[in-house]
Amino acid sequence: MPEGFRGLSGSESPYQISIEGKHIEIPSGPLRSSTLYAAGLPRLYDPGFATTAAYSSSITFIDGGKGILRHRGYPIEQLVDKVGFDELSYLLIFGALPTAYNLALWQQAQSQRVTLPTCVRSVITAFSPSAHPMSILIAALSAMSASRTSLNPAYSGQTVYSDAAGRREAIVTCMSAMPVIVAAIYRHTAGLPIFSASAVPHKQSFATRFLHMLNGGDQSKSLANTLDILLMLHADHEQNCSTSAVRHLSSSGVDIFSSMCGGVAALYGPLHGGACESVLRMLTRIGNVDNIPNFLERVKRRQERLMGFGHRIYKNYDPRARIIQQEARRVFEVVGTVDPLIQVATELERTALQDDFFVQRKLYPNVDFYSGIIYKAMGFEPQFFPVLFALGRSAGWIAHWNEFLDDPDRRIARPHQLYIGVKGPRDVPDVTQRVGGQEFLDDRPVIAVARL
Ligand SMILES: CC(C)(COP(=O)(O)OP(=O)(O)OC[C@H]1O[C@@H](n2cnc3c(N)ncnc32)[C@H](O)[C@@H]1OP(=O)(O)O)[C@@H](O)C(=O)NCCC(=O)NCCS
Repeated sequence: MPEGFRGLSGSESPYQISIEGKHIEIPSGPLRSSTLYAAGLPRLYDPGFATTAAYSSSITFIDGGKGILRHRGYPIEQLVDKVGFDELSYLLIFGALPTAYNLALWQQAQSQRVTLPTCVRSVITAFSPSAHPMSILIAALSAMSASRTSLNPAYSGQTVYSDAAGRREAIVTCMSAMPVIVAAIYRHTAGLPIFSASAVPHKQSFATRFLHMLNGGDQSKSLANTLDILLMLHADHEQNCSTSAVRHLSSSGVDIFSSMCGGVAALYGPLHGGACESVLRMLTRIGNVDNIPNFLERVKRRQERLMGFGHRIYKNYDPRARIIQQEARRVFEVVGTVDPLIQVATELERTALQDDFFVQRKLYPNVDFYSGIIYKAMGFEPQFFPVLFALGRSAGWIAHWNEFLDDPDRRIARPHQLYIGVKGPRDVPDVTQRVGGQEFLDDRPVIAVARL
């Protein structure tokens, strides 16, 4: 049972709580905020959803205190050791590890849908090659939403996802579109022509197919394995900011691609998936190990943030960071060069983990601390790292979207707020009588208009 959320399994007996002499009967099952509210308590205020559960899910279990991550009960360490991203995505989305036959069908279904719709291609190529790939990805997914009208409730009605065939088609289309779109963005931003669908090999693993769409030709098995592991480590992490955004958007009944747009937009931020890009820029700025003490002093004075450290849920080592650290060493053996930044990263981690500031706050390296170094060794530019994160996380987003559609508790997400403004009512003053508000604007002329 998740820590701190009583009775999510529904197996516990009812109990009573007393608040200011008032006894409230709590029925078995989850302790619902609505029960407390109905009993006369005020609504709960929970910035950042730090202490309330907005959804129930059987996809991923995390014990942040012990550093445990399991998907459908399987520890992440075993999954990385024994299965690949295709099996994991199947497990997340459909709830069970695939048989050999189902795995072949899953890979085949995806590799049959590699054609980039014309409008999506046009949207991608309309961007400047120097545009951030995450911005392009958001736009490309939005174009997917408009081009796959049969999978969009706005065009085809609210029942498209209640029909099993429609749901399956949405899942497979979304899963197969992501590598095709991401590869097209990669090629466009690198100034290269986008690969045609006929050049994409069939019946290959997700990672191999994707690498082929990036570079063509035969892929290094070892690099495909590394990418596969990174995709797996990014695949799902329960109600993180982007996955919650996907659920939030889906609750309105919008199509799957628009929900994914919301997920990508949330992931873009430097406190979430954008952290892997920020880590690399931070390590580059630090430059060498001699600058670490000075950098950490700036972090402690709140002038900097140690990117790739800290997590809302983990108050222990992020198990994904351990796996990534080992993988980084293997990658450097394969590519044959050792990036001096790995020395900076290792020393930065060692020093921070001994420093009271980080120890007291239980700040440990997270998944993003080492992932960027590996992506860099594989030849990717930093701005592409969050796109690769999104590629792996798309499996989790789709799994949560699918699970949420069947949730009997599903309602449109519509949080409350604490209104802290002027109570009113006030009379609207004449324009000549108004005071205040000038601090937002000044009267300098606008001298530059950004060119798009
Ligand atoms: C992930 C993150 C957003 C979680 O935020 P959160 O759960 O809201 O945690 P808080 O911001 O409340 O942090 C708690 C304390 O630790 C400090 N802290 C947290 N992460 C920190 C970091 N990376 N560097 C420096 N201080 C940090 C906060 O300043 C705060 O200190 P205070 O109590 O003295 O004010 C945060 O740890 C962070 O910004 N990390 C860096 C970005 C990153 O790597 N993101 C990827 C996450 S997978």
